[in-house]
Amino acid sequence: MASRGSAHEGFLRHANGRWCKVAILVSGLAIAVYALTDATPRPNGGTFAGYLLGSLAALLVLWLTMLGLRKRIITRGPYSLKAWTSAHVWLGLSLIVIATLHTGFQIGWNVHGLAYALMMVVILSGLYGVYAYANLPAQLGANRHEATQPQMLEAIRALDRQLDTAAQPLGHEDAATVRLSLEQCRVGGSLRQRLTGRQPGCGNRRARDAIAARVDVQRRQGKPDPALTQLLFLLERKDAALEQVRRHIAIKTRLELWLHIHVPATFALLAALTAHVLSVFLYW
Ligand code: HEM
Repeated sequence: MASRGSAHEGFLRHANGRWCKVAILVSGLAIAVYALTDATPRPNGGTFAGYLLGSLAALLVLWLTMLGLRKRIITRGPYSLKAWTSAHVWLGLSLIVIATLHTGFQIGWNVHGLAYALMMVVILSGLYGVYAYANLPAQLGANRHEATQPQMLEAIRALDRQLDTAAQPLGHEDAATVRLSLEQCRVGGSLRQRLTGRQPGCGNRRARDAIAARVDVQRRQGKPDPALTQLLFLLERKDAALEQVRRHIAIKTRLELWLHIHVPATFALLAALTAHVLSVFLYW
């Protein structure tokens, strides 16, 4: 994951920021076309400048979509995936300028406005993606301490086996408390739970709190039960292991989730864009 992170850190400044400069140039040209067009009221999609900027924006959207195909073919050199991603990000951002000028700042509640809104959803989710690729892999590394997700889950299963053994000599009530940890404890769950890493009412937490209270009373009475103290130790270790794997899943979900917005919104954008272009030519 770390190498993926560093590869992505580099794509913004790839080739001395070549694609950033190209994007600034393209945006500057779009502004010049818009500003130099002599039209009253100001040019919108239906003027010459509008068609020019609209065609450029539509071609850019088609090209940006092709990153999905490009990602699955590996090559090196000037057309490497890093160069493509760099161009994708910077030219994608230049679309904000080009497409906004194409609308002539006239955005309504219709299929044209829908295409524009979907484009902004794709762009903003992409921006989050850049942030995620630059920051989250480091957080993942710091949290996992060299352990993989299957290893973290195996550690929890090993603690469960020890808890099961430790519960054998206990009375009915304490054994039922241990079962809370063994039977009512989840690591994944709903999207919200995976994103926040929080599991309200976690069985292990409830068991740990109940046993901790019992051990506390015994300690104050000067009669700590070694079996119960050992049980508390295991429940605390399981709590820490659960925290770690839940944090791991939360970061991974944030790292992947944005693409689940970026890609479907891209397809919705392509559909809206087709409808937008067709309706313009049908009612011409
Ligand atoms: C309308 C504009 C855009 C379209 C249609 C578009 C479309 C796509 C598509 C189809 C993919 C490939 C996803 C996959 O197959 O996994 C992709 C990836 C990506 N996009 Fe965009 N995108 C746009 C704008 C942007 C912008 C403005 C940014 C950033 C500011 C951005 C950042 C990214 C990143 C970081 C990736 C992932 C690259 C990787 O995993 O190697 N995109 N985009």
